[in-house]
Amino acid sequence: MARTSIIAGNWKMHKTVLEAVELINALVDSTERVEGVEIVVCPPFTALYPASQALAGEHIKLGAQNLFWEEKGAWTSQIAPGMLKDIGCKYVIIGHSETRGRFGTVDAELEKVLSYFSEADETINRKVKAAFRAGITPIVCCGELLEERKGGKTDDVVRGQIEADLAGMSSEQAASLVIAYEPVWAIGTGEVCDAPEANRVCGVIRETVREMFGSHAAESVRVQYGGSVKPDNSRELLHQPEIDGALVGGASLKADDFTAIVKSAL
Ligand code: 13P
Repeated sequence: MARTSIIAGNWKMHKTVLEAVELINALVDSTERVEGVEIVVCPPFTALYPASQALAGEHIKLGAQNLFWEEKGAWTSQIAPGMLKDIGCKYVIIGHSETRGRFGTVDAELEKVLSYFSEADETINRKVKAAFRAGITPIVCCGELLEERKGGKTDDVVRGQIEADLAGMSSEQAASLVIAYEPVWAIGTGEVCDAPEANRVCGVIRETVREMFGSHAAESVRVQYGGSVKPDNSRELLHQPEIDGALVGGASLKADDFTAIVKSAL
């Protein structure tokens, strides 16, 4: 089954409202004639609404970087799935390593703080289900730390994350999902994972989906690679058979770079 490649920009904590709208307007123009690739931008919460207005009727889709699993209530600071749906979000990133709190090494004091505020597979699983309830497609992130890779644990770590994060979903939901394989050591480091190795791990992810949800889900689910994707390495990554797109951080903040990555998927 041919899967449509999906290139998403995770803007992280970058861009004011004005900057966000400028970047979106530039991307709308520069990718106007691109067909056969789904394009998504995920601005910070403060820019989502103006971004959705700038994208009204355009071919680029809107995503958020997180949500909370409850529908409403006394949850100071949190954003409900229905609020994202209300302003036109089609996608939401869930379980990014920067929110899992397992990003690189941290000192003991910070580790304690992270363990209070960071999420785990259990919270990610709740968020995935909540996104589906609201009609938003999750982009579920997984990936190993450098120590885990060096210890030969990559496949076990990624399998374990997928099994826990997707537990209890229907096979139709699994089929429509996007999963991003983001090795933590490759994020923001300029050290991209080799394309054949990224392809291999994306294949492990697809096999895990097959074991959990069957062949239809495995052949339909889209698996992205993320971690130091740039215009000069994206073509090789995006033409691997198991890789169905990219989740791009730093290079999604510049219209020229993100456009070049989108076009390299063709
Ligand atoms: P970089 O592309 O900056 O390495 O970030 C990847 C990422 O974390 C996307 O979610």
